[in-house]
Amino acid sequence: MTEPTLTGAWSQAWTILQQANADDRSPLRFVTLATVDANHAPQLRTVVLRELDADAATLCIFTDARSHKVAELGKNNAASLHLWAPDHLIQLRLSGEAQITSGTPIQEQWATVPDHMREAYGHVPPPGTKIAASEAWEVHPDINNFTKITVTLSHIDIVCLSRDGHWRAEFLKKNNWKGDWLSP
Ligand SMILES: Cc1cc2nc3c(=O)[nH]c(=O)nc-3n(C[C@H](O)[C@H](O)[C@H](O)COP(=O)(O)O)c2cc1C
Repeated sequence: MTEPTLTGAWSQAWTILQQANADDRSPLRFVTLATVDANHAPQLRTVVLRELDADAATLCIFTDARSHKVAELGKNNAASLHLWAPDHLIQLRLSGEAQITSGTPIQEQWATVPDHMREAYGHVPPPGTKIAASEAWEVHPDINNFTKITVTLSHIDIVCLSRDGHWRAEFLKKNNWKGDWLSP
């Protein structure tokens, strides 16, 4: 068995994220985004990882400006993302601060979104609104709803549950991303 190294753990995490970002069909793209609501309760939902910048340690998600998650992040910008990579036997927990960008500043990006995907930014009434029947909603795509959530990471927690050995490492931005081993 090869001893894991912190450098190896760090690069494995970014390899997984890069795989998730590079391949449209990779199940790794579907990550869980956690926010905190007005009652301080955790809220989780599946989202698609859309962009990744390893140098800046940022991840982006697209969403609808009218969604609950955007309102939650507007009040408390703490965000966490969770990803399980079964082929690597690795769990990633990525935490940081979210920044919301909507409408005109991301107009160029909107131009790259295919028509069928624009529908995700045009549900009427807005996402999360109570409706009288399952089909009592319409689609009116609108650039003003198109929103990018950019999470600037400050903490990465990696757990590996391999048969070769279990390990856990954390990396903090405030320590210039120097890693430490944690008891798994
Ligand atoms: C496979 C899958 C992928 C999804 N991807 C996204 C996404 O990229 N962005 C998004 O806003 N919602 C996405 N959703 C919907 C969210 O999980 C969620 O239901 C919706 O955004 C409303 O969440 P909120 O009320 O917490 O804002 C996805 C759902 C599934 C099942």
